[in-house]
Formats: sequence, structure tokens, C-alpha cells
Amino acid sequence: MAKTVCIIGLGYVGLPLACLCAEKGLKVLGLDLNQGIVEKTNQGISHIKDPVLEEKLSRLKGKIAASTKPGAIREADTVIVCVPTPARGTKPDLGPLKKAVETISKFLKEGQLVVIESTVYPGITEDVVRPILENGSGLKAGREFFLGHCPERIDPGNEKFTIERIPRVLACLSKEGTKKAKQFYSSIIEAEIIQLSSVKSAEAVKVVENTFRDINIAFVNELAQSFDKMGIDLAEVVKGASTKPFGYMPFYPGPGVGGHCIAQDPYYLIARAESAGFEHRFLRLAREINNSMPAYVAGLAEKALQDIGIGPEKTVVSVLGLAYKPGIDDTRKSPSLEIIRLLKAKGFKVRAFDPFLPKQSDVASLDEAVKGCDCLVLATHHRAFLERLSPEFLKAAGVRVVIDSRNVLDKEGIRAKGIAYKGVGR
Ligand SMILES: NC(=O)c1ccc[n+]([C@@H]2O[C@H](COP(=O)([O-])OP(=O)(O)OC[C@H]3O[C@@H](n4cnc5c(N)ncnc54)[C@H](O)[C@@H]3O)[C@@H](O)[C@H]2O)c1
Repeated sequence: MAKTVCIIGLGYVGLPLACLCAEKGLKVLGLDLNQGIVEKTNQGISHIKDPVLEEKLSRLKGKIAASTKPGAIREADTVIVCVPTPARGTKPDLGPLKKAVETISKFLKEGQLVVIESTVYPGITEDVVRPILENGSGLKAGREFFLGHCPERIDPGNEKFTIERIPRVLACLSKEGTKKAKQFYSSIIEAEIIQLSSVKSAEAVKVVENTFRDINIAFVNELAQSFDKMGIDLAEVVKGASTKPFGYMPFYPGPGVGGHCIAQDPYYLIARAESAGFEHRFLRLAREINNSMPAYVAGLAEKALQDIGIGPEKTVVSVLGLAYKPGIDDTRKSPSLEIIRLLKAKGFKVRAFDPFLPKQSDVASLDEAVKGCDCLVLATHHRAFLERLSPEFLKAAGVRVVIDSRNVLDKEGIRAKGIAYKGVGR
């Protein structure tokens, strides 16, 4: 008989995981608080705009039984928690995780494996999740049920490293639990599954990975601002430094850091270390630098327009891209939203467009967005933009200033058309 898995939270992490489990022949139950998500999932419609996921879910229609009712938890051999772990300002908010785990505790049965995939700081599984599950169920972790952590590393929109091709690390509170968890993940993941010796280490892996990205992006974002003053093209410098075959890994400057992970996971590590008596100054500074980038980009637009004698009054700035990264429709903590807010506060008329987010766009097409705008700010480098934003296209649309916050457009070609161009550190 096929093993049964119950996935709690059918968002950017839980829904692709549910599809993968169904593809691998598991019986899949999905639990979400959002009735709309549940209905769509049962109809084989992805609530997330992602062509690969949309196709998969439509093909798997009927193979994922989604519900808002938690009773399904009892039927599962394995329960996987994929609920949000947000930060309120700089403080971790464990509310959604605690609520999900309280629900599980009411239906937990002997022998079940519970895995937390949500990103947490070291200690949450043991110190927060374990007591809730034990108190609610009357069962003992490690003996009567199994509990562990296997951080999700999915990169939505990444066509090369899809969920099944990304190696995973995991650990449970007991050896038997770790063995069960390894068996489960080996049955769905094609890449390597690495066992760690403690749940805390597995939890730390994820926050360290994301903090690594945050501080390296902050480094190049700071370099961009200093190189702008010195007139050095950072894009060229990064390209040059990347020719060193060891000891260097390229990171690219941009409009800031968005999404549910990198923009907030460092706060989880900072908070945990603080409670243990350590102050992460470097990590806080990285967060500060990355959080300041939307203002830097909005300032570049203002300055470039000023340089050609245009003030904010009646000036149209088109912001292309609302999602925090290309190829997806996720706007959580997107720098683009902050750039728009700041430009409006400066008095500019803003026209926003994102092909992945038609309802949140001010216009229906790229042509409409660009036509007659004074300044174009490329905030998200969706493929559809890159295919069309040639110097000729921009000239024909009458654009006078281009702010390329992703350093992906043809700088020389655009300048050759008499259009002012400014990248970030470029
Ligand atoms: N988005 C990513 O790229 C990514 C990558 C790796 C890890 N993560 C981590 O995975 C976790 C989930 O992130 P996400 O982006 O999928 O979030 P999401 O907001 O897209 O999805 C979470 C889902 O959980 C549901 N939910 C919340 N509380 C619930 C409860 N008590 N019971 C049932 N359903 C509940 C919500 O309705 C929502 O549909 C987070 O900890 C995040 O940090 C995210």
C-alpha cells in the first residue's frame, strides 16, 4: 500500500512538494487554512503562477486531496510542515508555526514522522515544536513519534535546480527517526540526502545558507555605491574577479533583497544568538545595507532626471517588475514595491507593470508601460523584459532615462541612442 504523506501549508514550498510526492506515487493529503488554495488544488489549478507547477498540478488533478480540515493528519505516515515563518520587522514570528503544530498535536498518532521544513532558527524544533506536540498528544518524541527538521531549499522559478534535484540535509531527535526521514526523502528526492548529527545543526544550515547570500549581496551593494562615486563599473569588476578559479564567488548588486527567505531569515539567526548572549553586528549591517537599496535606486532615478532638467511634476516613471525576482509572481518584501512607494512620495507619477502580476499592474502590456514614459526603472529582470528592452525599442518609446537596477541592459547601446543610462554600480 502506498505510503501516505500529509503536507501542512500549500504555498511556494508545500505545493511543489505535494506534487513531487504525488508524482512519486505517494498518497498525498494537503492541509491549508486558505479555502481558495484548497479548492484550486483539488481542481488541479495552481494558485502560484509558475508554468512548470501549473502543468504538473493539472496533470496530477485528483492525486492531491487538499482540505482545510485537519482530520487528514491522522491518516498520514509522514506529516510535513511548510507553513510561513515570517519576521515582524526584525523579530521572528513563530505564530503560524505554533498554530500548525498545535493542530498536528491533536491528531498525532504513534509511529508518525513529523518533519519541519519551514525555515527556523536553531532550537525551535526541540524547544518550541517538541513540547507542543508532546503536551497536545501525550506521546513522547523520539520513542512514540518521530520529529525532525529537513530545511527546504527550493528556488521558485529555477529550471535547473528543481525540488527533486536539490540535495537535502536532515536530522531527527532519534536515530530511528533520522532513518525513517532519510527513507522518506530518498523516495522522492533524486539528489543526495545528508544526515546531520543534530536537529540544531540542520536548522542552522538553512539560516546560514540564506545569511551567506544576504551578507554577500550587501557587500556588492555597498561596493556599488562606493564605485558609483569613483566612476568604476562594478559589473565589469565582478566579471573580472570571477575569472579567478578559486576563492571568489560572484554576487551581483541590485535593488535590494526580497522574498520570504533571504530578506528575513538572518533576523532568525540574529534573534537566537541575541538570546544566547551574542550580538551579530555584521549580519545586522548586511540587512541594513540591503534594506537601503530601494531608496538608493529611487534616488538614482531622481538624480538622473534632475541632470536632464526634469523634476517630479508630471513626470512619468515606469517601474518594470513587481516580483522580487524574475520568473515568478511573488511580491513578498519585493524591493520593487518600496521603490514605487518612494518614487510616489517624491511626487513622480508611477506606472507599474509585471506580466506575472496583471492585477497589481497599472497597465496591461510592456508597450503601454513604456510608451511616453520619461524614466524607466527595471526592477525585476523577467525574461519577457530582457527580450524586448533593446536600445531601439526604448528610443522608439521616447524613454529619456533608464535606471537598470539589475545591470542587465545594453548600457553602451542605450547611451548611444542619447538616453541617459544608470545601473547600480554601473
Ligand atoms: N518561498 C521560498 O522560496 C522558500 C524556500 C525555502 C524555504 N522556505 C520556507 O518555507 C516556509 C513556507 O514558505 P512559503 O513560501 O511556502 O510560504 P507561503 O506563504 O507561500 O505558504 C504557506 C502556506 O501555509 C498556509 N498555512 C499557514 N498556517 C497554516 C496552518 N496552521 N495550517 C495549514 N496551513 C497553514 C498558508 O495559508 C499558506 O498557503 C517558510 O518557513 C519559508 O521560510 C520558503
